[in-house]
Amino acid sequence: MKHRNNSSPQNTSSPKLLHIDSARLYRDGVGAEGITTAEMEELAPELRRIHQIVVAQSRGGENAEFASLNLHAIMTDLLASIETMAAQIRRFEDVIVIGIGGSSLGAKAVHHAMTAVRPDSSVPGLHFLENIDPYRLRDILQHHKAEKVGVICISKSGGTIETAIQFLILRDWLEKELGKDKARTHQWLVTDPASGWLRELAVREDLPSLPVPPKVGGRFSVLTAVGLLPLAVAGVDIRALLAGAADNAGRCTADDIHANPALEIAALFYLFDINKNKRVSVMMPYADPLELIVDWYRQLWAESLGKRMETRPGRPPAGTLPVRAMGAVDQHSQLQMYLESRLDKTFTFLALDSWDQDFSIPLPEENRKFFPYLAGKKMSQVLEAEFQATRQVITETGHPNMTLRLPAINEHVIGQMIDLYQRITVYTGLLYGINPLDQPAVEKGKKLAIKLLSGDRST
Ligand code: PA5
Repeated sequence: MKHRNNSSPQNTSSPKLLHIDSARLYRDGVGAEGITTAEMEELAPELRRIHQIVVAQSRGGENAEFASLNLHAIMTDLLASIETMAAQIRRFEDVIVIGIGGSSLGAKAVHHAMTAVRPDSSVPGLHFLENIDPYRLRDILQHHKAEKVGVICISKSGGTIETAIQFLILRDWLEKELGKDKARTHQWLVTDPASGWLRELAVREDLPSLPVPPKVGGRFSVLTAVGLLPLAVAGVDIRALLAGAADNAGRCTADDIHANPALEIAALFYLFDINKNKRVSVMMPYADPLELIVDWYRQLWAESLGKRMETRPGRPPAGTLPVRAMGAVDQHSQLQMYLESRLDKTFTFLALDSWDQDFSIPLPEENRKFFPYLAGKKMSQVLEAEFQATRQVITETGHPNMTLRLPAINEHVIGQMIDLYQRITVYTGLLYGINPLDQPAVEKGKKLAIKLLSGDRST
């Protein structure tokens, strides 16, 4: 079997595509802990079946069940409105983005990556308010002047408690500082097109707003106005982000693992759980700008896949625990455990092909005897050597691992990653036989918190 790696024809024909190297997930790449060709072949009919479901349920515009996998096409009509609104918001020095979970993590991750590689002082700074933390809110209010601040409040349901209370406090602050009429010109909403508190507010107060497609849930919504509006405000090229997603979608049209990387990766990670009892999925980027992309992936993976398999009684619950590790930092923290504890993990490394920012290491003569191997080296070469060494010891320990090589950190590449992981997540959910789009257990906690706030202590 020919496994996907950097030399596959798809990758060489387009140097800007993500390089997906899955070789070390297979038995001939990592040894006994890897998946065999026979296991993959046995799953082939099921993979064809779930691929057909995804194809059929991605069609039909924004009302399709898996509309989230077709946002590169669905969002085209709304792009001009998003860009116009973003241009209006850009008049502020700072923009506070209120939202939580899927209504925040995607934009925050892309913003973090893009401001790291392409800082731009001509656009507003974005400040994401997710958690309800009085210290953080005090800092925001103390360090900003109301007249220089715009607020974007994002909630698909339009009523998430953490989002609602922070927006209520910020609205109150704006109104006290600026007066009610002026305060209205500092607020924008992204929410459900028809229902919820925020939608009602938008209508009642005539606040500018953008809709989230009805079938697209929080953690799959970074490529809707949920992510695109704040990102456009911050100068991110949202068209390139969608073009990247479209290019990845174009790589994933076949029902065959050799020609569809999302299907292949989903199959492998499903088999690691079901056949190999590997319940931990570590993602380890070797580039600080990608740090929050892992938080986005963590939510996508955990909230979509961590579920009871009600359709398959007797089977353990679905899902593997997504864990964030950072290269090289976690070589000095988690690696000991990875190398000597249980073989219950899989690894995904994210590495950069080339760095457009680098430093030569100054090595005066008197220091050379301590670090002779650093002579003439650049910082990125050291990071690359550490990545390769870590991957090798992880492989030699017997941990299956794959590498996503990013040709660069830019919108097009990040768009590909977003589409790739959304697709992998949906396929994996279908393999488990669960609905990757819902989150029934999360609702229980929300309801209980509301009950407690209402003074109801009954169980
Ligand atoms: O992925 C999800 O559906 C959740 O994480 C939601 O994004 C999160 O609970 C916030 O919901 P909402 O956008 O309705 O405020």
